[in-house]
Amino acid sequence: MLKKSDYRKRRQQLMAQLGPNSLAILPAATEQLRSRDTYYRFRQDSDLSYLTGFPEPQALAVLAPGRQAGEYLLFCRERDRTQEIWDGSRQGIAGAIANFAADDAFPIDSLDDILPGLIEGRERLYFSMGKHADFAQRLTGWLGQIRAQVRRGAAPPGEIVNLEPLLAEMRLFKTAAEIALLRRAAKISAEAHCRAMRRCRPGLYEYQLQADIEHHFADCGAAAPAYNSIVGAGPRACVLHYIDNDARIADGDLVLIDAGCEYQGYAADITRTFPANGRFSGEQRALYQIVLAAQQAAIEICRPGRRYDEPHLASVWVITQGLRDLGLLAGDIDGLIEQGAYKDFFMHSTGHWLGLDVHDAGDYKLDGADSPWRDLEPGMVTTIEPGIYVQPDNQQVAARWRGIGIRIEDDVLITAKGPQVLTSGVPKDPAEIEALMRA
Ligand code: GLY
Ligand code: MN
Ligand code: MN
Repeated sequence: MLKKSDYRKRRQQLMAQLGPNSLAILPAATEQLRSRDTYYRFRQDSDLSYLTGFPEPQALAVLAPGRQAGEYLLFCRERDRTQEIWDGSRQGIAGAIANFAADDAFPIDSLDDILPGLIEGRERLYFSMGKHADFAQRLTGWLGQIRAQVRRGAAPPGEIVNLEPLLAEMRLFKTAAEIALLRRAAKISAEAHCRAMRRCRPGLYEYQLQADIEHHFADCGAAAPAYNSIVGAGPRACVLHYIDNDARIADGDLVLIDAGCEYQGYAADITRTFPANGRFSGEQRALYQIVLAAQQAAIEICRPGRRYDEPHLASVWVITQGLRDLGLLAGDIDGLIEQGAYKDFFMHSTGHWLGLDVHDAGDYKLDGADSPWRDLEPGMVTTIEPGIYVQPDNQQVAARWRGIGIRIEDDVLITAKGPQVLTSGVPKDPAEIEALMRA
């Protein structure tokens, strides 16, 4: 559980970067309609959550470094007895101050009256661009109002600056409290994968394993899956974002499960691939060993000072060599890598940052697309998830390989002492998987 002081530290760290006479505005996520008058479960905007922990929709945080009358303001819904009987309690103005440490709080309905006055006279306005389209339009309206007052001495901000990169850089480096939450999310998710492996047998439907996994998430107090769970058996394991999960699992299938929970805002992201009947076939095992070796080589490189792309390059090398040794690719390894021959089998990257978002905030290169990949540093958390997918219609390889899809994904914390795998609670060694499935 994060403390009020954790959030305060984050706000102070951000405000120190904004500089004097600036203002940062962070809107809440908007509720999304699912059907008619029924909404998707609300999930707070990760940046607002990161800085305030405020959980409600129809809210907005303002940071005004150096403002005498208060640097941290929250706009939120007022309390409303009738609405609260239907939808649950609200923080209201008093709760925003008492429970979320706002210096001051205002009804969200008063934005039009109050926000232009807060913006007016500030030199720089920080706002995450391209993220809150409706709100950006309102902001333009408020800036227009200020401009209309110029002859009376009102001054719109000279600069509007994108807030997102500053927050992304902060979010990329996890504190001890965040790592504890990521570990918890990882542990729950690993247990859920073990449960699915134990339950699996031919004849079940993919959604039944999804149910087991998500039952465990909910049972452990995780709010939701961090992303749509993928349970693909047989050739469906070759569909990277397969979420139908509605087919029957056959004897001889491999089952690929990519699922992780969100625990107190923090995500886990795990993939395991195992034989439906508890025993890898020769072809499945041969390809599995390559993916496992590629993953282990990539994890081994997750150390401070190594470049972000090095784990991927290591995976590519091991996978290319493995596929060539098995005869699925022909040629010399360097040449095959140069041609990108492996991309027919391994078409995604080896990982991504992980945190509040499953594909978390943070740049991978520091100076634009043409600059080198950044170095790994302690406190970063990345997934490592190589795979081999032999498409069912791949006529270039012998029929016995077709339709096999394998990915192995773990969450890795970079530390000064080397990589720490947060998701080691679920086996990935083939013999250990088979033993767990027998048990
Ligand atoms: N589960 C999404 C991913 O692995 O990136
Ligand atoms: Mn992932
Ligand atoms: Mn995943």
